[in-house]
Amino acid sequence: MKQRIRKILNDPPVGTTLTIHGWLRTRRDTGGFSFLEVGDGSSLATLQVIADASLPNYDSEIKNLGTGAALEVTGELKESPARGQAVELHAAAVTIVGGSPPDYPLQKKRHSFEFLRQLSHLRPRTNALGAVSRVRSHLAHAVHTFFQERDFLLLHTPIITTSDCEGAGEMFQVRTGHEKGEQGHFFGHPAGLTVSGQLQAEVYALALGDVYTFGPAFRAENSNTSRHLAEFWMVEPEMAFCDLAGCIEVGRDLLKYLIADVLEHCPEDLQLFNSFIAKGLLEKLTAVVEKDFVQLSYTEAIEHLQSSGRKFDCPVRWGIDMQSEHERWLCEELFNCPLIITDYPAALKPFYMRMNADNTTVAAMDILVPGIGEIVGGSQREERLELLEKRMTAAGLSLSEYDWYLDLRRYGSVPHAGFGLGFERLVQFVTGMGNIRETIAFPRTPGSAPC
Ligand code: 4AD
Ligand code: MG
Repeated sequence: MKQRIRKILNDPPVGTTLTIHGWLRTRRDTGGFSFLEVGDGSSLATLQVIADASLPNYDSEIKNLGTGAALEVTGELKESPARGQAVELHAAAVTIVGGSPPDYPLQKKRHSFEFLRQLSHLRPRTNALGAVSRVRSHLAHAVHTFFQERDFLLLHTPIITTSDCEGAGEMFQVRTGHEKGEQGHFFGHPAGLTVSGQLQAEVYALALGDVYTFGPAFRAENSNTSRHLAEFWMVEPEMAFCDLAGCIEVGRDLLKYLIADVLEHCPEDLQLFNSFIAKGLLEKLTAVVEKDFVQLSYTEAIEHLQSSGRKFDCPVRWGIDMQSEHERWLCEELFNCPLIITDYPAALKPFYMRMNADNTTVAAMDILVPGIGEIVGGSQREERLELLEKRMTAAGLSLSEYDWYLDLRRYGSVPHAGFGLGFERLVQFVTGMGNIRETIAFPRTPGSAPC
């Protein structure tokens, strides 16, 4: 029977004969025996295979096996006398499915993440990147469970779009290369890769109630930081008949749910990160689940920064776009917990955010977490036609191009709200990885798009 190693180790069927498929991590030989550590990606832990000289291919193949070789092993699972492992597989047959010569780049020594980025086709075979992949997969599943359990409808928003949601001019252009002037556009109009599915999610929220989209987003910004990717995934719920307070509640509940879920289901992988990547990670994650988040307005945040006595590189005054140094001080030093910052100056935020009664700030909310900064960005949307038109005109947008978006305010407009959770920033927070490039399989950043 073919089995995954995770299952075998969780509930060892001692005394049965089974078959595993995996890759050799290490080989150790002692008089007439070889100990083979085999991993199949299902868990961090490997299974120890004992192969002895009675196997027909022992001298010709097994004794020379290189790290990285692909194996099929059939044998009996026995209790292990060795410390640190409960069971071992006594091989009756070892088949070399794919050999791995000595120039295999991932020999046993530890490699830096920078080095591994140049090997994005091999790095998922390392302990750390394998663990990130499992945690990421688990988190994605939990995102769907959270929303499905709450009756949100999954919406697949388009990847090619003709509207720049954030209005920041960071869209990658989509072209065929054969256009001849304006008439020649494939879609009859210039098009680009979406920066966010929000505007289309609003369409469906105003028809079906609560919806969410979970897909890739693209930003052509020249940001070479540890928290930016040119291609990333975003979780975007959009709720009809919902105000800013309702939106904050969903955002906070979602974060707590996802982290509690991963703490429960991925303890072994998180322990690896806690030991080797980010000391104190488990404590930090547990605190997010158990402790309240602190909520404050942008204006209050600025006041805290001004009375901090700190000298920031970017001087603090009302109206500044808070930089990572400000966010970090608030989040990591002053409060040391996730922060929900609301009511930012309208001038800093996109046209769709709802204007507050003060006519200066908007009903926005960002959630910041220690070590990362902004992980969630959202708002209540401007549902009043005239005010929305005013904001769009001020932002230099053409009202006729967004006529469909304005129709949502002409017919059956309701208060509605939503947010975007950056999925890689979430994975980064949960794993404690220093750089976002380790949280996605094939990172796309300025100057780099491997595989
Ligand atoms: O704050 P942002 O730009 O908000 C929006 O796009 C809204 N339309 C979302 C909505 O309300 N439906 O992006 C949302 C989140 C950020 O908080 C951040 O976590 C992540 O997306 N994000 C990025 N992650 C990685 N690389 C980038 N370049 C990112 N830009 C934004
Ligand atoms: Mg934002």
